[in-house]
Amino acid sequence: MKDQADKLRAMALNLRQQIETEIMSNKTTRVIVIASGKGGVGKSTLAVNLSLYLCQLGYKVVLMDADLGMANIDIMLGLIPEYNLYDIICSQKTIQDIMIDGPQGLKIIPGGSGIQELANLQEGELKYIIYEMGKLDGDFDFLIVDTGAGISSNVLNFLLAGDETIIVTTSEPTSLTDAYGTVKSVHRSGFKGRIYLVVNQVSREAEGLAVAHKFQLVAKRFLQLDVEVLGHIVYDPQVNRVIMEQEPLVQTFPGSLAAQNIVNIAQKLVQDDQQQEVREKAKSKGIRAFFKKFISLNRSQ
Ligand SMILES: Nc1ncnc2c1ncn2[C@@H]1O[C@H](COP(=O)(O)OP(=O)(O)OP(=O)(O)O)[C@@H](O)[C@H]1O
Ligand SMILES: [Mg+2]
Repeated sequence: MKDQADKLRAMALNLRQQIETEIMSNKTTRVIVIASGKGGVGKSTLAVNLSLYLCQLGYKVVLMDADLGMANIDIMLGLIPEYNLYDIICSQKTIQDIMIDGPQGLKIIPGGSGIQELANLQEGELKYIIYEMGKLDGDFDFLIVDTGAGISSNVLNFLLAGDETIIVTTSEPTSLTDAYGTVKSVHRSGFKGRIYLVVNQVSREAEGLAVAHKFQLVAKRFLQLDVEVLGHIVYDPQVNRVIMEQEPLVQTFPGSLAAQNIVNIAQKLVQDDQQQEVREKAKSKGIRAFFKKFISLNRSQ
């Protein structure tokens, strides 16, 4: 109890300093949330490979596994997390203690059941989590958040809290319908950030382009919404093979077409990063604001 009180006091003391540092620093972490609708379409595959390629480009990236059911980023990378977000409160760990090191300097925040436990925390404890997460602001260029299958209230809240959204779909009608449903929910809930689309597991480029174009038209016509096409990824059996060997594609088979597709997706995101007007539009609010909003949305339900 005493430790807890000490921590809360430290929080109060440091919070002002942290906010001042954030205001002074012109570098904001871009928070990008990856979701789909239908499960198994390739969110985690994209999240891991995109994050690693951004690291290769020299960006500092933290990847959060926000899949509440089957947290699998650690499995995909062959890592064993010791703690999760909940341990910040129940085991008095810092955010640095719970993050694990992936390849290429990538940092990973294991989520899993820890995120669900957040719902049971007291106001002061939640503030403390927000404070801990806020320590990452400015240290990272990107926070990539990989969500679980479906559009549960948790997934929707992550999407609404983030600055930008990547919706992953395949060209199958059920996957497209669910992806559209997700975009519609996010839009109707007042999301003002950018919404990107990635079409995964296509047989060839023309299929990816055609599906994405149609999706864009439907969103424009029925939701008056601009969905931006980030790219496509071809179906490649090597994706599965490297997952079994716990090594991501961009690292093991950089010359494969699927890896090249992921490189193109990452480069489009980074090009965007360099355009002032895009940065303005994305209005990145950073990691602290992301957690604050996620927690407040969760509590208001
Ligand atoms: N481009 C691709 N080519 C071939 N296989 C792929 C491709 N993308 C993903 N896969 C395979 O599809 C399966 C599901 O991928 P992944 O786990 O990334 O999906 P997910 O959307 O994260 O699933 P979940 O909704 O369960 O979290 C995995 O076996 C993965 O190897
Ligand atoms: Mg997944």
